[in-house]
Amino acid sequence: MPSLHFKGKPFVQNHHLVVPFHELAPVKSKGTSAKPSLHDNLVVEGDNLKALKALLPTYHGKVKCIYIDPPYNTGNEEWRYNDAVNSPMMQEWFGREVDREDLTRHDKWCCMMLPRLKLLRELLTDDGAIFVSIDDNEVHRLRCLMDEVFGEENFVVQIEWQKRYTRSNNTDNFTTVLEHLVAYRRTDAFAPNLAERSAEADARYENADEDERGPWKSIPFLNPLSAAERPNLAYAITQPNTGKKLRPKAHEKAWRASEDVFLRYTAEKRVWWGADGLSETPNIKRFLSEVRQGMTPINFWDYKFAGSTDDAAAEINQIFGEKVFSTPKPSQLLQRVIEVTADKDSIVMDSFAGSGTTAHAVLALNKQDGGNRRFILVECEDYADSITAERVRRVAQGVPGAKDEALRAGLGGTFSYFKLGRPMELHSILAGKSLPDFESLARYVFFTATGEEFDAKKIDRKSGFIGESRHHDVFLFYTEDPAKLRNLALTLDAARALPSVSGKPKLVFAPTKYLDEHFLDRLRIQFCQLPFQIYRALDA
Ligand SMILES: C[S@@+](CC[C@H](N)C(=O)[O-])C[C@H]1O[C@@H](n2cnc3c(N)ncnc32)[C@H](O)[C@@H]1O
Repeated sequence: MPSLHFKGKPFVQNHHLVVPFHELAPVKSKGTSAKPSLHDNLVVEGDNLKALKALLPTYHGKVKCIYIDPPYNTGNEEWRYNDAVNSPMMQEWFGREVDREDLTRHDKWCCMMLPRLKLLRELLTDDGAIFVSIDDNEVHRLRCLMDEVFGEENFVVQIEWQKRYTRSNNTDNFTTVLEHLVAYRRTDAFAPNLAERSAEADARYENADEDERGPWKSIPFLNPLSAAERPNLAYAITQPNTGKKLRPKAHEKAWRASEDVFLRYTAEKRVWWGADGLSETPNIKRFLSEVRQGMTPINFWDYKFAGSTDDAAAEINQIFGEKVFSTPKPSQLLQRVIEVTADKDSIVMDSFAGSGTTAHAVLALNKQDGGNRRFILVECEDYADSITAERVRRVAQGVPGAKDEALRAGLGGTFSYFKLGRPMELHSILAGKSLPDFESLARYVFFTATGEEFDAKKIDRKSGFIGESRHHDVFLFYTEDPAKLRNLALTLDAARALPSVSGKPKLVFAPTKYLDEHFLDRLRIQFCQLPFQIYRALDA
């Protein structure tokens, strides 16, 4: 498969693997849930590369719908390439604004996107999909990157969204009224949700002859190809009311299907010869009761269906009373993305959250249909609290003066606010400085060693139990107190005292052990020394 080459690519190919895990620190005062939890609706403040990595232990393979709206790289956005990739060339890029004069701006954008797309893929469920908003500046490069990360075979659709409906006469070029939504799935287990059939679509089915099978639509029994092209479909059919033999001439359209099929239709009383019964083209009845109950989505979303940028600006104005954010998307667009991808209890993620439109859409849909969808937002700028989270607070509580009745009354829902904490630098365990807290380390070692979801509720500090994986009961001997940590070891007594939670072999992380392999084997314990052997247990 052809692939995209760009400056810096060799340095970022595996960058997502080296990004350190960071703690996620709850900020209770900024959330609205009584008890902050990573299993709640989430607003996470921080760079999404680190935040996505920090969310992996809890959300690996759990997110059904990802929507992102990254910088479009127009040259006017003031974004900076800030990933701490260990290479002099990349350091040179660090912190400089990416503007139109920057000849490497497309390279930088690709370097920024590639590791993030790789992490996002890890978070998707097997039947999940990711939708990326983008415009003409980077759409072609984005498609190449997505082909590489998700596989060409997992391309789902490129939707054209009509973001505006007026022409701009201030441009010498074409007025652009479309933006794109590029969608890829994790695996072929994804299928888009069908839309409810519209009254308009149903109205095309009538029942002119009061057929007891209900309303039907007539489909001409004609082939797009001519009789000359399909001679086997040019057999004679007798018009039952006139007795006339109908046989398509060479230049006329052939019949739609074989004679056997036509005879079956006749036996099933599906052939319709018009209201007067004299038509010279047979028509076949397709009953409404037989058609698919939903309608497949299409790849053009107009502003009536998905909202416009004007609608988005009006929403921000309604919620904040002023234009606090310059590039919001309409919540209607996000509702359409979520409807087509997620179920009523799915997790929906947006790691370039901006004004928090995705959370607004999730809460609006939940209010509409009683669903229990959850959102995870990530935003790196200072306004993660004052705009992103604030929008969620306001729409949840109710926006006085909003046109939409549900929004006026409040969409309901609560969320927890987290900030990126310290990086999990395991050599700090050796140095005894900046030690991670127990839960953060447990989250990290459990996920890294087992590749499975970590649930902090399972922790039993007394025994050191931190969770059950497919193959092990997992224990962590650790304390944030450096003096105690120095003397912490897996001893024979401690090993014997470990509870048998599920009966599986035990995986024990500890700074050291004072018992030999013989006892470990007898007690069915696999020992992993902290901080070196975290990957040791990645086994079958
Ligand atoms: C185009 S805006 C998204 C707008 C959003 N869809 C809405 O409707 O409001 C892109 C957002 O991504 C944020 N962003 C850019 N790089 C980021 C990063 N590395 N981590 C987290 N957020 C980032 C920007 O600060 C900005 O708020």
